[in-house]
Amino acid sequence: MTRAFRAPGRVNLIGEHTDYNLGFVLPIAVDLACVARAAPAADGRLRIHSEDLNESADWAVADLANLSPSHAWTDYVIGVARELILAGYDVGPQSIRIHSTVPIGSGLSSSAALEVSSALAMLGGRPIEPMRLAQLCQKAEREFVGVPSGIMDQYVAVFGQEGAAIEIDCRSLTHKVVTLPPDVEIVAVNSMVKHELGRSAYRERTEQCAAAVEAIRASYPEVSSLRDVDTRMFCGIAASLPDKIRRRARHVVTEDERVGRFVAGCRGGDLGKLGELFVDSHRSLQFDYEVSCEELDFLVDTALSIEGVYGARMTGGGFGGSTVNLIDPAASARFEREISGKYHARYSVRPQVYRCRPSAGASEIPPCTSIH
Ligand code: GLA
Repeated sequence: MTRAFRAPGRVNLIGEHTDYNLGFVLPIAVDLACVARAAPAADGRLRIHSEDLNESADWAVADLANLSPSHAWTDYVIGVARELILAGYDVGPQSIRIHSTVPIGSGLSSSAALEVSSALAMLGGRPIEPMRLAQLCQKAEREFVGVPSGIMDQYVAVFGQEGAAIEIDCRSLTHKVVTLPPDVEIVAVNSMVKHELGRSAYRERTEQCAAAVEAIRASYPEVSSLRDVDTRMFCGIAASLPDKIRRRARHVVTEDERVGRFVAGCRGGDLGKLGELFVDSHRSLQFDYEVSCEELDFLVDTALSIEGVYGARMTGGGFGGSTVNLIDPAASARFEREISGKYHARYSVRPQVYRCRPSAGASEIPPCTSIH
């Protein structure tokens, strides 16, 4: 019997590059998702087929635990199969068909959606602790795919909430459900670019954050990650840090605080304040953390010139991908037209625009439901 499992992409509202510093993030799962449909096979092989890329690959299940990365999309699935096996789950012969509406390279976490949906497909309904599922997929990404990513994407792909954001504490691995103000639309704009630099720069940022912690520990030995540093402490030692390390750390320390202020702002419903926090976050990523790019800055600056936009910022790892915009619902049709027209006039590329509906985390799709 074929069983189908879906896992969503995400838009991070605020808290960028804070997850691997064990701080706070505030993502929503979105209604773009990856669906993995698995049917048992009798030939001892794991076969995967991407309907979007029209590509297939297969391996003997007996070899799965010992494969090396092939630097293709299949690494996400094989990395997960390997982690499942290491965790004691049997991965049986089967054929998995994959279809995703999360655009690859959009910064909306197509990879975590692929990891989580294929993990569920290979588990085929066997129980797994949700947190263990998220961690196992993160481990696949870190150890097999080779990106030292934090937990945010896999966490929200598993724990996403219909109609709300989740504030994840990336140290305690717990979250709070955060209700967003009613009169605001969340719109993602995909720049359609993904700069090559992204992967190496991501690793470099994790190393710079580790260097910052090392330097700060000389004065504050109790600090074990940038999560432990607040702005008061940071101001006291900032002058002693080398310029680049100081700016990287300043982004993380201030961004963690912005998450707290954004969550408080959601309770108060002050959309102007929320928009300001978005812009502060973007400027910090642009100038201090240096993970934005010309196209993302253009999208943010253009968005801020459009009436009815409360705030705009890049979302996800950066170096391309998407921006997230907080918009007055009455202005969203005009926003879509204007941002698309202006981006096209500048870069001759039409950006994809998504109105995001906060959605539930991964689940099995009941057999009677049609799959698109
Ligand atoms: C990528 C990573 C996440 C997180 C973001 C930046 O999406 O996969 O773990 O670090 O970048 O916030």
